[in-house]
Amino acid sequence: MPYEFNEKKEVPDHPTYTTSTGCPIFNPLASQRIGRNGPIPLQDFHLIDVFQKFDRERIPERVVHAKGVGAHGVFEVTNDITKYTKMNMLSEVGKKTKMFARFSTVGGERGTPDTARDPRGFALKFYTEEGIFDMVCNNTPVFFIRDPAKFPVFIHTQKRNPQTNLKDATAFWDYLSLNPESIHQVMILFSDRGTPYGVRFMNGYSGHTYKFVNDKNEFFYCKWHFISDQGIKNLDNDTAAEIGGKNPDFAGQDLFEAIESGDCPSWTLYVQIMTPKQAEQYHYNIFDLTKVWPHKDVPLIPVGKFTLNRNPTNYFAEVEQVAFSPSHMVPGIDVSADPVLQVRTFSYPDTHRHRLGANFEQIPINCPVNPVFNYSRDGPMNVGANQFDLPNYPSSTQKLDKEKNEPDAEHERWIGKVTYHMDELTDVDFEQPRALWKLMGKQKDQQDHFVYNVSVHLCNAIPNVRERQYGVFSRVDPELGKRIREATEAEAKKIAGNETVPVKPEPHQFEPQNSTLK
Ligand code: NDP
Ligand code: HEM
Repeated sequence: MPYEFNEKKEVPDHPTYTTSTGCPIFNPLASQRIGRNGPIPLQDFHLIDVFQKFDRERIPERVVHAKGVGAHGVFEVTNDITKYTKMNMLSEVGKKTKMFARFSTVGGERGTPDTARDPRGFALKFYTEEGIFDMVCNNTPVFFIRDPAKFPVFIHTQKRNPQTNLKDATAFWDYLSLNPESIHQVMILFSDRGTPYGVRFMNGYSGHTYKFVNDKNEFFYCKWHFISDQGIKNLDNDTAAEIGGKNPDFAGQDLFEAIESGDCPSWTLYVQIMTPKQAEQYHYNIFDLTKVWPHKDVPLIPVGKFTLNRNPTNYFAEVEQVAFSPSHMVPGIDVSADPVLQVRTFSYPDTHRHRLGANFEQIPINCPVNPVFNYSRDGPMNVGANQFDLPNYPSSTQKLDKEKNEPDAEHERWIGKVTYHMDELTDVDFEQPRALWKLMGKQKDQQDHFVYNVSVHLCNAIPNVRERQYGVFSRVDPELGKRIREATEAEAKKIAGNETVPVKPEPHQFEPQNSTLK
């Protein structure tokens, strides 16, 4: 079914009420009865129809990024970068491609307040002539981990305690202090960018390094940056908490109302580009997701702009059922060897099959605009024409697009012994968090806000965990470590004076495995 399905409201102004099979029903609010007070007969198809649908209304929410808001839009190329990529959607200046965006918080459930301190998801789906292209970003250019094996346990520590079902500050900071490669992301999360004013006033970053391939089969490494044309606007910690209490759907309302009133938000796309040779010689490992490429080393190159101009007509059909994956790639761009990105290419389609079913690509919001032809058929909820009478095997009547499918001879070649990736922490891991701390020093009140934002959260963790995290901050900057310790201990004293706060049990103690911090 084509994507345009969603643009038309194919319903009459005054539709007749029917069963799911289209049978008109005279009274939808009455069940059949035998006599005046008798039991209900099984033949009441309408009643059973209504109940079986109601009983199945909920699908699993996303395991992360459950609370979200989305909108349709259009991407337009403004600058020629065809010397780096043969991506069809970037093939000429002025070319437009339809797209859909979903913004989300990460750790909380579907009802979580939009103003929570959390990274924000920034997921984009482009309906290109050569298939679906997803760029699944966050509003932060780095992430907490660089070994994907840590993701499930890291996420557990950001969610609810298995016994109390409460958010658990000790687990939160216990994990982060034992895995200090997270510090760069922690620095951004606890700056005021951790509580953005809705979604219009924040940037989106690929974070990962991807690969561009041009029409000569040369490849380049790239990072993507979507910079908000509205500028950056954040909430301070206490205002975010206050708004979250009064209107937990603040960001959703802000985006919907802006688009509805014609104030359509837009973002400018820039890319950073590195040749394979530059990447080999670069100071930072380009597959390390805890690092940015500083702008002075690798400048931003403008590419285009997307504008969100249409609200969804149905939240569930469009925002809840949309399925993004970093593995939804098109010719001209590919995933790199970043291990976190590699695992993401498995995890997303895997969760889509669980959350939406084996044929999730057939849900209209997920459908490519170009025709799909392959040898896969059938399966549950196969709601399309099932590829008509086309052959379901490589037949002699069919052609392959040889040129586009030819592998690139110059791509990476890997030789090595299978080994475990040990997360070794070095001084290099503290350079960029330190640069950010200094940058905050040039922005009004930002260092003070950072110290406050950390202190009112970290004070809820148990003392030995607090102590370990002070060590991490001190390694970024001794003055920062000192300020965080003083502010946090002052907040902890206030809590200790409040008898209503429950005493937290000491967790099992263990020391950092791969960290030089003790
Ligand atoms: P630059 O001065 O060239 O770039 C600074 C970047 O930091 C800008 O993109 C800016 O975004 C962003 N920024 C400003 N204030 C904050 C904040 N409080 N929290 C998070 N980001 C902020 O310097 P570098 O490229 O050397 O980067 C310095 C530090 O900035 C990095 O260590 C990293 O922590 C952070 N950063 C770097 C990015 C990059 O791609 N190089 C991207 C985002 C953050 P804006 O222009 O929108 O204000
Ligand atoms: C959502 C896994 C890291 C951005 C999700 C989902 C899973 C997942 C399972 C739910 C998808 C769905 O139900 O449709 C992982 C794993 C990671 C990882 C295993 C690391 C090993 C990241 C990173 C980013 C990111 C580094 C950003 C750069 C997002 C976004 C969504 C999401 C934006 C929401 C997509 C939507 O709006 O539907 N992730 N993730 N994730 N993830 Fe990740």
